[in-house]
Amino acid sequence: MKFSRRAAVAIVGVAALFGAAACGSDDDGDGGNTKDVEVFTWWADGGEKAGLDGLVSTFDTDCADYTFVNGAVAGGAGANAKQVLASRLQQGDPPDTFQAHSGQELTDYINAGQIEDLSADYKTWGLDTAFPQGLIDNLTVDGKIYSVPANIHRANVVWANTKVLTEAGITEDATTLDQFIANLEALKAKGVAAPLAVGKDWTQLMLLEAVLITDLGPEKFTGLWDGSTDWSSADVTKGIEDYKTLLGYSNADRDTLDWTDAEKLVMDGKAGYQLMGDWEAADLDTKGFKEYSYSAFPGNATAFQWLADGFVLPKGAKNAEGTRCWLKTVGSAEGQKAFNTKKGSIPARTDAVATDYPEYQQSAIADWKKGTQVPSCAHGAACAQGLQGALNSAVGKFSTDLDVETFQKALVAAASQFIKK
Ligand code: BGC
Repeated sequence: MKFSRRAAVAIVGVAALFGAAACGSDDDGDGGNTKDVEVFTWWADGGEKAGLDGLVSTFDTDCADYTFVNGAVAGGAGANAKQVLASRLQQGDPPDTFQAHSGQELTDYINAGQIEDLSADYKTWGLDTAFPQGLIDNLTVDGKIYSVPANIHRANVVWANTKVLTEAGITEDATTLDQFIANLEALKAKGVAAPLAVGKDWTQLMLLEAVLITDLGPEKFTGLWDGSTDWSSADVTKGIEDYKTLLGYSNADRDTLDWTDAEKLVMDGKAGYQLMGDWEAADLDTKGFKEYSYSAFPGNATAFQWLADGFVLPKGAKNAEGTRCWLKTVGSAEGQKAFNTKKGSIPARTDAVATDYPEYQQSAIADWKKGTQVPSCAHGAACAQGLQGALNSAVGKFSTDLDVETFQKALVAAASQFIKK
């Protein structure tokens, strides 16, 4: 495995990297070796890196003519990576492939003409029949498919430190918001510093989305993203008030923490719960933390809030054939198993064998089949990057002023700017 110099710089500091990317030349110091396939992700540590390593091991076997170059830029949900990527794409210096969420986030790249149509490759590799029809429909834009999904993640999961809960006398998973708040109150009474661990911007948007799924129900929640549900409704006001109540049980330094910092509060027994996507299962396992439990966010019932990570072939990639070999690996049964058993996600392919997977993923595979699927905006399935950015900045502001009316106005304004009915 090689580590691209660009990415190494990026992990030290995004600002520094803009300078490196700006030169627009091959700065790997290897003279532009066309065997290299630079894979750009934000999977730099813990369970995310373990998943990537799994995929790379399959690539190394199946694509022995090519060399994987790690272009990872650290930062949860691509907080830093997406800025670096935008800059590189703008300057005509794309990586050979990059990670992008299926759904609306992908249409950003399609509309900008930055990625290639892979429909013919889908047929050659048998991917047109390997993925569920619903996912194929979601990926198809004007009859073309532009990315290969590696997985399906679930966003609306609550992770808990079982020891902390037991010490506070909590023995059951909360299935309603009222029960959840009672449990948070019990943790507070027991002296737990942050009953609910929360991180910055996108992690707050995830929490807000989960509360809205509870208060609106899956159908109306989904309608928030196509303009059929009104952001100014009383249901949304109730959701914001409930969300505010939950923030009241969180750590005061939430606006400075990435998701792994908030996760550490749970691992260290300083928090009882954290709402986070199921990459947390793999991350806790990789870190050797065993005293945890998981359940759907209270009141989300059978709603499975989904998102999918995929890879694309950027226009102007230096090694398009090497990238095709990477993409074929990503879509293959072996690649999906090597990746997903380590990443906390479930395979996008329908031919996976559930018993090959750790306990958490086995439950997620069952929930995915029987649940109601709702998309995630914080992770690009439900909304494009413009709306996502506007919502992230609105939740950030609300985290400081806690002004419900101003917050709802900001949500309404963002929706009316970015959602075309
Ligand atoms: C990605 C996951 C990743 C998570 C945290 C999400 O947007 O889809 O693969 O683990 O962010 O970084």
